[in-house]
Amino acid sequence: MRLDLSNAIQFCKIESFENKKKLAVDCLNKLINGNGKGSDFLGWIDLPINITNSIITDIVETAKTFKNLDAVVIIGIGGSYLGAKAVHEALKPHFDKPKPEIIFAGHNLSGNYHSELLKYLNNKHYGIIVISKSGTTTEPAIAFRLLYRDLKQKFDKETIKKRIVAITDAKKGALRKLADKEGFKTFVIDDNVGGRFSVLSPVGLLPIAIAGYDIKSLLHGAANMRNICINKNPENPAIQYAALRNVLYDEGKKMELLVNYNFKLNYFSEWWKQLYGESEGKEGKGIFPVSVSFSTDLHSLGQYIQQGERHLFETNILVNDDSDSPIIPQDEEDLDQLNYIAGKKMEYVNRTAAQATIMAHVAGNVPNIIIEIDKINEYNLGSLIYFFEIACGISGYLLDVNPFDQPGVEDYKQNMFKLLGKK
Ligand code: PA5
Repeated sequence: MRLDLSNAIQFCKIESFENKKKLAVDCLNKLINGNGKGSDFLGWIDLPINITNSIITDIVETAKTFKNLDAVVIIGIGGSYLGAKAVHEALKPHFDKPKPEIIFAGHNLSGNYHSELLKYLNNKHYGIIVISKSGTTTEPAIAFRLLYRDLKQKFDKETIKKRIVAITDAKKGALRKLADKEGFKTFVIDDNVGGRFSVLSPVGLLPIAIAGYDIKSLLHGAANMRNICINKNPENPAIQYAALRNVLYDEGKKMELLVNYNFKLNYFSEWWKQLYGESEGKEGKGIFPVSVSFSTDLHSLGQYIQQGERHLFETNILVNDDSDSPIIPQDEEDLDQLNYIAGKKMEYVNRTAAQATIMAHVAGNVPNIIIEIDKINEYNLGSLIYFFEIACGISGYLLDVNPFDQPGVEDYKQNMFKLLGKK
């Protein structure tokens, strides 16, 4: 992973950036020493190196037991599904549906989504991974109740027991109680790992392993990035990214657009939005995280980005890989006037679009940070995940908020429970 700040740095004063980097090193120290805000929730820092071989083996072996099913439904919301979904979407083919098909549920309250899902699963052999740290979240709880009843109507108790795994707290919560009572296999979410920082725990690793991806390589990428990012050197990329985005924020750049040029990264952006939005958006502060996929969104949001209010900066994730790309054919008549790029790979045009867009947006006063990877694979995704997590912790401390709580999420829930008549 390479971080290039050269298209963003000109938008801030060098001394502001240097000062912020010094502050960012102090913030990293607080994270590592566990003496900053929310220090009860720092278990994620060492997840890639602390996860034991026996847990990894248990995850891999459990995943194998789901291999011959038609589908596996991953039930969870927020931090209990976005990490797994991000990695799955990044690695799966665009069109083929490898077996078992991975389906997500309980991440919304849409009646028709779950009704159509039940119909879709009707004649299928499927399993369920139900994930909830608190064990009481409404969306996954409803989805699990619906699907568990469906399985109970079709299969005997012993078969069902082999098809359900719960990932939840070691002791607390309704899901723990239910799993213990029904005898489901369980994995534990540690107390000191919050939902949006949990992808490198069984929360993300089990679904990713079931989908057939190499979790050891994912963890390896994360562990190597950890080595780089816990270095208390101002040139550490997490320090640089956290410091620069905060200097830009001080300069009035209130929104950060995570940009990709590859649909496979769309859910990585969703994961990133939750990570930064829920960690930083509090006490009337925080950069608003937005995501776009170019060139698609250049034809919808491009006008605003180029010429609208100047409160934006962009962080591009570029993938330097054209190994799987059609070559644009020569055409005798050239009615579509594309012969000037005949013989070039389509991905070359995509890459040129990225270069052109960054130039145009920088000229239009939109700072651009560039993160480049060579390939979308488990190792690089692990690296990116860890990089963004630790930069998020540093950045939250720079803002002087607790990056590890989410008190604002409770408000709608309290209203909803009141309206639904919950006792
Ligand atoms: O990051 C978070 O803490 C949240 O997004 C939670 O992951 C989300 O609300 C789901 O919570 P739970 O896992 O308790 O069902």
